[in-house]
Amino acid sequence: MIGKLNHVGVATPSIDASAKMYREMLGATSFSEKFVMEEQGVWVQFVNLPNSQIELIEPWGDKSPIHAFLAKNPKGGQHHVCFEVEDIIAARDDMQKKGATVLNDGKPRIGAHGVPVIFVHPKDMGGVLVELMETPKAGH
Ligand code: CO
Repeated sequence: MIGKLNHVGVATPSIDASAKMYREMLGATSFSEKFVMEEQGVWVQFVNLPNSQIELIEPWGDKSPIHAFLAKNPKGGQHHVCFEVEDIIAARDDMQKKGATVLNDGKPRIGAHGVPVIFVHPKDMGGVLVELMETPKAGH
């Protein structure tokens, strides 16, 4: 069921500072535009790598879930990993059948790639917050 590693989510107090670090320290050359996802309460910018992406996420708004993460990890840190699945509803039902807690009452939301995503609670995933996203269809 699990497909490609699509991206690793990294929370940061400053996307601009993190992007500079990836550019200057690690030599990254390809970045998406920075954009806001209001429903999720985050600013997002992707660092494009040959085989994957790093998703930099910074809090947007007072209710951003990233504030709590940054309170515990003031410099930021690894926040989630995202795997592709063929069918988000089938994946959600399978996770719930196996007893895992799917966040947002199991309702998929449209993620940063424009396809539906769910998040599975770290308590059921060996301490890792896992995002599952539907594989973008060809032409997307
Ligand atoms: Co993500």
